[in-house]
This record gives sequence, C-alpha cells and structure tokens, in this order.
Amino acid sequence: SPARLAHAESLFAVTPDFPEPGVLFQDISPVLADPAALRTIAEGLLAPFAGSFDMVAGIEARGFTLAGMIAALTGTGFMPIRKAGKLPAPAGRVEYTLEYGTAVIEAPDVLQPQHRVLIVDDVLATGGTLAATRELIGQLDCEVAGAAVVLEIQALGGRKLCGEVHALFQS
Ligand code: PRP
Ligand code: MG
Repeated sequence: SPARLAHAESLFAVTPDFPEPGVLFQDISPVLADPAALRTIAEGLLAPFAGSFDMVAGIEARGFTLAGMIAALTGTGFMPIRKAGKLPAPAGRVEYTLEYGTAVIEAPDVLQPQHRVLIVDDVLATGGTLAATRELIGQLDCEVAGAAVVLEIQALGGRKLCGEVHALFQS
C-alpha cells in the first residue's frame, strides 16, 4: 500500500558527500532491517511481474538479499550475478564501462532455455550494471521478464542505457 511504501522510503539513511563530495549517499540498510519495510519492498518489486518469471537474478552484492526474498515469496529460483573472478566456471561474462575503467560480471551455469528471468538490484545509477546484466542473460539465450530496483537516481539517466525498469522509489 502507499502508506507501507512511504514508511519504507522514510527509512533510507541519507548521507551527503559520501563516498565523495557532491554525492548524496542513500543507504538501504535501515530499510532492510525493518521487518515490515523489508517485506513491503520485496512485494513491491515483484508485483508488476507476478507469474511472468521463474528465476530471479540478484546483482552482487546488494541485489542478493532482495532477489532471494522474491524467489522465496514466489516459489521461483534464485541466481547470483557475480563480480569478476568469483565463479570457477562461469557460463557467461560481460565487460562494461564504468565512469573510471571497466567492470566484469559473470553468471553461474544454472539457466535453462525456458527460464524467464527477473533481474533485481537495490539501486539504478548510470544503468551500466543493469544493461550488462540484460546482455549477460541474453547471451545465455534466456528471456528477461523484467527488471526491478528499489531506488532510481533519476539525475544519472540510467534508464536510457538499461531499458525498461520498475523502480519503487526515485530520487
Ligand atoms: C551499486 C548498486 C548497483 C550499481 C548501480 O553497486 O548496488 O548494483 O552500483 O550502478 P550503475 O547503475 O551505475 O551500474 P556497487 O557496484 O557499488 O556494489 P555493491 O552492490 O556490491 O555494494
Ligand atoms: Mg550493487
């Protein structure tokens, strides 16, 4: 409900000038620590996609918790989208551009062709991570059912890069 979502939103811990000057850091930790807010967030993320996915991909690290909850709530599977070098035999790998340098994400070998994957993360910033995750799932010949994030930082315009995304909150 709107009241439950507003309660969850009120719990973000906002810190100016972290990790560097000019950045307004929004820490989701107090939201996750609150039982009602945690459930509200998980249910809000999955609501538009209910029944349309059978695997939830959580992006390391802060997307893991949310994706695991959604999988448990919906009786679907969970897969981690991992940062480089964590998996002994990744099934897929995508390199993408960051503000400074590049990053790599990898997927474990758990997807079957029929899987419809819901991608979940905490924050959408530049959109690079989410765009790369879409590409990674496509590389593994699976359909992306959708993407959901808790918080979209609108000023960074990530949506242009990553395509359609369900954002619970915007800043
Ligand atoms: C943050 C956030 C998203 C990503 C969004 O993760 O949790 O995953 O950045 O950024 P983008 O839209 O510009 O790609 P981070 O890499 O800081 O690591 P963490 O989740 O492991 O803390
Ligand atoms: Mg992250």
